[in-house]
Amino acid sequence: MMIPVILCGGTGSRLWPLSRDAYPKQFLALAGSQTMLQATALRLDGLPEVEAPILVCNESHRFAAAEQLQEVGRAAQSILLEPCARNTAPAIALAALRAVEQGQDPLLLVLPADHVVADTAAFQQSVSAAKKLAEDGLLVTFGIVPTCAETGYGYIRSGDALAGGWKVAEFVEKPDLATAEKYLANGDYNWNSGMFLFRASRYIEELAQQNPAILDACRAALAGAARDLDFTRVDADAFRRCPSDSVDYAVMEKTESAAVVPMQAGWSDVGSWSALWELAERDANDNLLRGDVLAEDSRGCLVHGADRLVGILGVQDLVVVDTDDALMVAHKSRVQDVKKLVQRLKQNE
Ligand code: GDD
Ligand code: MG
Repeated sequence: MMIPVILCGGTGSRLWPLSRDAYPKQFLALAGSQTMLQATALRLDGLPEVEAPILVCNESHRFAAAEQLQEVGRAAQSILLEPCARNTAPAIALAALRAVEQGQDPLLLVLPADHVVADTAAFQQSVSAAKKLAEDGLLVTFGIVPTCAETGYGYIRSGDALAGGWKVAEFVEKPDLATAEKYLANGDYNWNSGMFLFRASRYIEELAQQNPAILDACRAALAGAARDLDFTRVDADAFRRCPSDSVDYAVMEKTESAAVVPMQAGWSDVGSWSALWELAERDANDNLLRGDVLAEDSRGCLVHGADRLVGILGVQDLVVVDTDDALMVAHKSRVQDVKKLVQRLKQNE
């Protein structure tokens, strides 16, 4: 049995001003007609022995999450609500504890709700290839062949060969640029896709060893949980006391029991406006124009219009994103820093 755990508690701040606290990236249809959460749920269709997913999200997004699944005819088996963000290690811990509470020890397929995967069949093949390794107690990550020295990802060095993948020799989360360049040149490294497959009990065991404070806080948060309609609200005080850390730092960097299975499925985490520009189909001038946009003598731009007409003239490599109450203009080479604008905005609030 396999239960998908869909993580949808992130903020997507580099995609401001479209992605907002109230409506972050995973709830937007950035790459296609479905929202990224919907695409994540539908990508599971046809995967053998897969159950309805457990969703973990912030309480303020509960209705968006439930309604978006309903819109595509899907339902979660649980929607666990966090009162505040404590990053991915606790979010996964809540789902794992919930799964074993029900007397099962399923494989958990951890999926970020905000990734693009172009080739569903290849995605499902990798998941199937990882099954045996996860059943044998390994914590499996899915490795992506790196194409640049991106510093926002985890890097995995492959060790001994296993059926369908390799033992993880080293896992380094978000290295600095010089280190990322070294890894890229080395050729033995994959990017961590941020998707994982493991037994619920194995994750709990590893967390107990590597970071017991997170596990204890999540146990307390779940013990004090309350039903609210179709949602499960974890105990707010207990969860607020939980240390904040990602699964990558809290578990994957430290465990001795990790494996990596390759995934070549047209993956992108759409982490920035330029990532969206890269993966979308562009016009003859290399522009990606959405909405009512007039472009003249302009190249390599991404323009996202809202209700009014946008015109660009004689410009290159610009990102222009218009919304009802905010307009952003940035150079495409600077889009990683969009989150700085968001930080400024929050300071001013
Ligand atoms: N429920 C919940 N609660 N979900 C969360 C939280 C939280 O507090 N924080 C983040 N998430 C969700 C995000 O919505 C996203 O779907 C997923 O968890 C991963 O979090 P990110 O914040 O996007 O992580 P990242 O992109 O910096 O890094 C991870 O993904 C990379 C690939 O995209 C790491 O796993 C890297 O190693 C990996 O390379
Ligand atoms: Mg991400």
